[in-house]
Amino acid sequence: MQNFVFRNPTKLIFGKGQLEQLKTEVPRYGTRVLLVYGGGSIKRNGLYDEVHTIFHEIGAEVFELSGVEPNPRLSTVQKGIDLCRKENIDFLLAVGGGSVIDCTKAIAAGAKYDGDPWDFIAKKAAVTEALPFGTVLTLAATGSEMNAGSVITNWETKEKYGWGSPVTFPQFSILDPTYTLTVPKEHTVYGMVDIMSHVFEQYFHHVPNTPLQDRMCEAVLKTVIETAPKLVNDLENYELRETVLYCGTMALNGILQMGVRGDWATHNIEHAVSAVYDIPHGGGLAILFPNWMKHVVDENVARFKQLAIRVFNVDPAGKTDREIALEGIEKLREFWSSIGAPCRLADYGIGEEHIETMADKAMVFGEFGNFKKLTREDVLAIYRASL
Ligand code: NZQ
Ligand code: ZN
Repeated sequence: MQNFVFRNPTKLIFGKGQLEQLKTEVPRYGTRVLLVYGGGSIKRNGLYDEVHTIFHEIGAEVFELSGVEPNPRLSTVQKGIDLCRKENIDFLLAVGGGSVIDCTKAIAAGAKYDGDPWDFIAKKAAVTEALPFGTVLTLAATGSEMNAGSVITNWETKEKYGWGSPVTFPQFSILDPTYTLTVPKEHTVYGMVDIMSHVFEQYFHHVPNTPLQDRMCEAVLKTVIETAPKLVNDLENYELRETVLYCGTMALNGILQMGVRGDWATHNIEHAVSAVYDIPHGGGLAILFPNWMKHVVDENVARFKQLAIRVFNVDPAGKTDREIALEGIEKLREFWSSIGAPCRLADYGIGEEHIETMADKAMVFGEFGNFKKLTREDVLAIYRASL
């Protein structure tokens, strides 16, 4: 293992009826609240009204930023920052999926930053302060509810970058599976692909002696694999939603990362695709991840073999290690297809036209990936295999 320090300050409030906790959590931070949400799903499922009832009860003065896009945009972040300054906001509450939470993180930091928020999103400046914020999560996917990361798109320049700071952890996150019952099938699938992808990003490393880390990663993967086929056919099943919601948080709250060094190349490659084409993040990952795996399998066949046997139940008898490893990757592809995830860029109407541009965007900070450093040629090969 590598040496590590672990700290995650987010208070996780999980389970049915936990929205009530807003009554004690929000007043700790002030009375002028900015409620941030997306395109209206929280109005349709009643959560918006429930939150307002609580705000009314605690006497909060509420301002709103609605319409946060999936793949949230810098222009919306700027609107939120302007509101925070104009209305002297004390606290932000994100109610929605990863996009709403990520946008809220950028607003919270931007409100305390004297300059263009793109500076810290594009890593030209560091964030040292942020307004406090909490979240009510409505979609199991990103882990943003219990990490400090945020991914923002500059639609004018078609750039999408992840950034984060120790000051952009949510103060608290409320996770009631009830509010995820209305997530449509496609976003449920994308969410589960994203969760599994977060585990893969942390599973593929070259650090020796990580038996517990490996088993914890495998446990999350196996749990999602066991739950997903049932959930896609029973979207309003509370217990299945509860399981996946917990998996999503555990996949990217830093716990799986202790003592290892994750790869994160595929996320970078995907962000370059959704920067140009605005496709759902999980859909992009479903297409790209198996092709990244095939591209890098020889870097550490033993890890791929372990995954194939332990998670995808590949029978090793009579096969070489490489054959076992490749069969595991194929099983992953088959599994994602079986729950309805896309498998080719063509599924989103994406052809060869912009792969050079996407490769340029992926390379903007130079070669990347810790499992295998990817060059521009590697990235192009993965895009071509994904067409
Ligand atoms: O906008 P509304 O109307 O709320 O609809 C959303 C949106 O259309 C809908 N939705 C959410 N909860 C719902 C619901 N519909 C019905 N019922 C509910 N309960 O689902 C759609 C997708 O929502 P979004 O927030 O975009 O999805 P997700 O949570 O997958 O977030 C994706 C974004 O997160 C970034 C991605 O790049 C992408 O921009 N990521 C953030 C990470 C992080 N902060 O740690 C890590 C990830 O790897 C990822 O890159
Ligand atoms: Zn992701």
